[in-house]
Amino acid sequence: MDLFRLDGKHVVITGASSGFGHHFAGVLSAAGARVALGARRVDRVAARVDEIRSAGGAATGIPLDVRSAESIRQFLDAAEEAFGPIDVVINNAGVEAGAKTYLMIDEADWDYVMETNLKGPWLMSKLYTERVIAHRQASGNIINISSITDTRTIKGQFPYAVSKGALTRMTEVLALEASRYGIRVNALAPGYIHTDVSQLVFESATAPEFMKRIPMRRFGEFNDLDGPILLLASDASRYMTGSVIVVDGGHICASL
Ligand SMILES: NC(=O)c1ccc[n+]([C@@H]2O[C@H](COP(=O)([O-])OP(=O)(O)OC[C@H]3O[C@@H](n4cnc5c(N)ncnc54)[C@H](OP(=O)(O)O)[C@@H]3O)[C@@H](O)[C@H]2O)c1
Repeated sequence: MDLFRLDGKHVVITGASSGFGHHFAGVLSAAGARVALGARRVDRVAARVDEIRSAGGAATGIPLDVRSAESIRQFLDAAEEAFGPIDVVINNAGVEAGAKTYLMIDEADWDYVMETNLKGPWLMSKLYTERVIAHRQASGNIINISSITDTRTIKGQFPYAVSKGALTRMTEVLALEASRYGIRVNALAPGYIHTDVSQLVFESATAPEFMKRIPMRRFGEFNDLDGPILLLASDASRYMTGSVIVVDGGHICASL
């Protein structure tokens, strides 16, 4: 089990004010990581930092808007000031435009989703890589939180599914290009997990029918992601780069 430990590792998590990011912060801290949490809702981030510290962990909260290079720069500066060079970046922040088709969205919807879900992870990866090079770090690790909508699409997920398809491809291209700097890049592609983002799907009249398409016949829970995120964040995945780990109760298989 020591393979999955993160003792002393500095992990930064975007979108840590709720949902997955909020949960990952606790899981990674419990495995020994020092965690830097970023999001726009700083009060929620501060509350999570307090919880982690109360449990004996090392955590810091920093304001972050992943759509802004300047905000990412300030976030990375503050994280390094707190815990030194960064071992792992988790590009988790993500939004959707609601249940809309390509005809229903407007330019503001497109920009909001694509800038958060796609431009943000690229900017973060670029600015992180510059630091890994500048600090002459022996290694680095980037984890992108994609989605099974990267390959399996239903109506009304525009442009969310477009952004996730591109994020998965970005993971592969980054893996290819970042290897020379010792940086591994992988993605986690969850299926339908109960969070604020997926609330609409769970509450809809079609939810029971929808669930029948999942071979394991249940929606995912946060802790279904604990093993996969620890694998990707730790040395247990040291020979993995460009991989996409699907965690969906078999949902993708069923739709093929
Ligand atoms: N829930 C699912 O079933 C599911 C399935 C597959 C993939 N995912 C992906 O998992 C990730 C987390 O989603 P979630 O389900 O945990 O949703 P969530 O609870 O709404 O969390 C989204 C997080 O992203 C942050 N965020 C949004 N815009 C941001 C910005 N511009 N800058 C910084 N942070 C920003 C939010 O914080 P602030 O609003 O405070 O900034 C929040 O902490 C997303 O990438 C999502 O696409 C979710």
